[in-house]
Amino acid sequence: MNKLEGLDVSGKRVFLRADLDVPLEVGDVDAATRLKNVKPTVDWLLGHGAKNIVIAGHMGRPSGPDEKLSTRKILEPLKKILGRNVDFMENVDAVETEQVMLFENLRFWVGETENDFEFAKSLAKIADCYVNDAFGNCHRPHASMVGLPELLPHAAGLHLEREVEELSRILEKPERPFVAIVGGAKIETKVPVISNLAGVADWILVGGELPLEIVKQNLTFDQKVIVGTLTGDTKDIDDATISKFEDAIRGAKTIVWNGPVGLFEEGFTKGTLEIAKSIVEGGAYSVVGGGDSTQFLGQQGFLSKFSFVSAGGGAMLEFLSGKKLPAIEALG
Ligand code: 3PG
Repeated sequence: MNKLEGLDVSGKRVFLRADLDVPLEVGDVDAATRLKNVKPTVDWLLGHGAKNIVIAGHMGRPSGPDEKLSTRKILEPLKKILGRNVDFMENVDAVETEQVMLFENLRFWVGETENDFEFAKSLAKIADCYVNDAFGNCHRPHASMVGLPELLPHAAGLHLEREVEELSRILEKPERPFVAIVGGAKIETKVPVISNLAGVADWILVGGELPLEIVKQNLTFDQKVIVGTLTGDTKDIDDATISKFEDAIRGAKTIVWNGPVGLFEEGFTKGTLEIAKSIVEGGAYSVVGGGDSTQFLGQQGFLSKFSFVSAGGGAMLEFLSGKKLPAIEALG
């Protein structure tokens, strides 16, 4: 993977692919870790003489332009985080009015998710080099992830470099017992990684929407996988599951967590908060990842107590289950 220090950015226009998929109500900028991850790389690029930077990413899964998912919504938080003026860029033809610009949601163009070569070429025209700092999306073979590095000199951003270092250490030599906790939604991404994780972790604790799907599909797993049971209204793990999970967490030396175990957005926060509490009290090396859950844990004051906060939900789980992520492969 090419590193930033090997990329000549002096006097160059940089396309910076970032993780911008954060909950839209970014009331608490301190909790928006994915956005905060952008700053060290932006500072590095400007400090090394970059002429300008276009920060681009996606939000949600729009099927075309959709005002509700415009990245314009994160312009103000981004300005605050970067401590500088940033202007908005609607498309590749828009005039760049500031040294740092924020591009519209890349998924407004169908060519993004289809990894369309012409779309990648149109993006490549606005830059001389490409930096990927969007670890959270590295499992997606999209135009801005794998197409652009074929067209421009490229490197990983500082946050992506750190992600790969931290997670490789866990993948290659975890202190055991190693407990992985998988929750949240995005079932189609997560169900397949449960079996793969069983080859790496000692226990896999499963909550969120996944137990329902596992029952529905009548799936069976290795005995290392503890599938939680849900409360009567199926919105959170029940008390018996909380204590089973806590037992595993108490004995762990390494813990990796993605996805809330209950529907915290609807107020079902108990399971997720109890799990967070036992992780930080247990003192294991702990990694938590994902967009919504890290924001929630940040707002609850837990996030800073984790050893590392990954920007990746599905990407982190796939990486830790030993899969090669296409956008990391694309970085040479
Ligand atoms: C994320 O936000 O978790 C990633 O960017 C992946 O998003 P996706 O699951 O919508 O592709």
